[in-house]
Amino acid sequence: MANLASSFVLWLSMLLYVCSVNVMPKWVAGRSNNFYDFKVQTKRVTKLCNTKEMVVINGKFPGPIVYAEEGENIIVKVINETPYNITIHWHGVWQRLSCWYDGPSYITQCPIQGGQSFTYNFTMVNQKGTFFWHAHVSWLRATVYGALVVYPKSGVPYPFKYPYEEHIILLGEYWVEDVVKLERSTLASGGNPPPSDAYTINGQPGPNYNCSQHDVYKINVVPGKTYLLRLIHAGINMENFFAIANHKLTIVEADAEYTKPFTTDRVMLGPGQTMNVLVTTDQPIGRYSMAMGPYMSARGVSFQNISSIAYFQYLGAVPNSLFLPAKLPSFNDNLAVKSVMDGLRSLNTSNVPKQIDANLFITIGLNVQKCHSNTPKQNCLGLNNGVMAASMNNVSFVKPKISLLEAYYKKINGSYTEDFPGAPLKFYDFVNGAPNNAPNNTESLTGTRTKVLEYGTRVQIILQNTGTVSIDNHPIHFHGYSFNVVGYGSGNYNPRTANFNLVDPPYMNTIGVPVGGWAAIRFIADNPGVWFMHCHLDAHQSWGLSTAFIVKNGKGESETLPPPPVGLPLC
Ligand code: C2O
Repeated sequence: MANLASSFVLWLSMLLYVCSVNVMPKWVAGRSNNFYDFKVQTKRVTKLCNTKEMVVINGKFPGPIVYAEEGENIIVKVINETPYNITIHWHGVWQRLSCWYDGPSYITQCPIQGGQSFTYNFTMVNQKGTFFWHAHVSWLRATVYGALVVYPKSGVPYPFKYPYEEHIILLGEYWVEDVVKLERSTLASGGNPPPSDAYTINGQPGPNYNCSQHDVYKINVVPGKTYLLRLIHAGINMENFFAIANHKLTIVEADAEYTKPFTTDRVMLGPGQTMNVLVTTDQPIGRYSMAMGPYMSARGVSFQNISSIAYFQYLGAVPNSLFLPAKLPSFNDNLAVKSVMDGLRSLNTSNVPKQIDANLFITIGLNVQKCHSNTPKQNCLGLNNGVMAASMNNVSFVKPKISLLEAYYKKINGSYTEDFPGAPLKFYDFVNGAPNNAPNNTESLTGTRTKVLEYGTRVQIILQNTGTVSIDNHPIHFHGYSFNVVGYGSGNYNPRTANFNLVDPPYMNTIGVPVGGWAAIRFIADNPGVWFMHCHLDAHQSWGLSTAFIVKNGKGESETLPPPPVGLPLC
């Protein structure tokens, strides 16, 4: 007995020792822990009359839901039982002082290789709302994704009437082909990726597709109630409209930040965006469809034009009555996108930075590189027999061979440079009159160029879409931060005519920069680490539409990134 007691004391003191040398500042550790095991597995799945092996978590597609409360810790052990490389990114989570757990492969960590595991451990510091997690290697997000729902602290109400029920709606894209091969073959072809074989709602294509009569997601609803839908776009290469027949959607949250309620007939989400909407069941008892259809702002690109349908079915509806179809805007309805964006206002007048220390101007768009292949018929299927590319400030980002964060932290030279330009080389009519317009030279530079920011820098970035190849709406996502979207518009950004909202701009982590237009975002660089900024359309990301920001440490423990965790995967 005495022995037991003394060994307990020994154990306790060891535990205390371990805790006291833990480098994490006290305020970062959450109040309670939420533990999850994520087994990365392959699973045989039959959809659209085709069977394939696909990568999933714990045998589930979509993957398990992760729940937490604001301020709590989330600890997820990822065990890779597949031959594929994997990492998991916690999309929208700021990862304050925990950049090592952010997840983008070759940016904050090397991938978890087959047979290996890694435990993610982070805290939802001052964050709540609808998030999601997804694979951040190749195009594996297509099958490896799930919701991350963070509730307000107990006792803290929503700023709207408590909904009768809430449901998660994950929008996705499905390919019959293996998605890792798909990325490889797309890059090897030099051309555009093939369209997905189906859009999916919670993994189900719905009855519009072949062999999918029973692969339909359904919500049973009670009349006279208000439902909260957590919309999450986990798709790969498309942006999409979403609507429910005869029902209005009231947006109350966008990218895990409350908004002033805004009521609309439909919404548009790009990959990486989340939105909470309230739906009131105030229609005659019946069967209504929820639909996800394409939004394609570029010209001459082929895409999946069949909508995915799910059912929104009232209790007491006649079993065999027809489903009322949802009205979706046409695929190129830019106005439908703008009118929803115009309605997005933060609920609270946030503390938008009024003074700016660093004013960056970043062009975003597509390029066509010259063909250097001996087999152009196989490898140069891009525009004008070239190779498709994409860039920021005309630099196509090349992923390094070791993680940028490790290279930066351990001062390993040679894998990246710190010369990402804060403005384009030359200013011209970006949207209409690109001097290097196809079929002229539309080439970009290549490199692993980063932008270094001192701790606490108040940053403004103008994101300007170019028409070098084709104008296009790009969902630009920033890791480690949310930003105020203080302005946006069509055409070239003009500081004299641009209208800024410094009072209640939406606070987002992914901004759909208007097709042939611009968006202005602001944030304070107060989270040290290496943070990826990229287009969340995976084809564009693979083509190089990204860059990384290195945010330096500030003063003291609370402004300093702790050393790497034990067990960080090796490349
Ligand atoms: Cu959800 Cu780097 O992305």
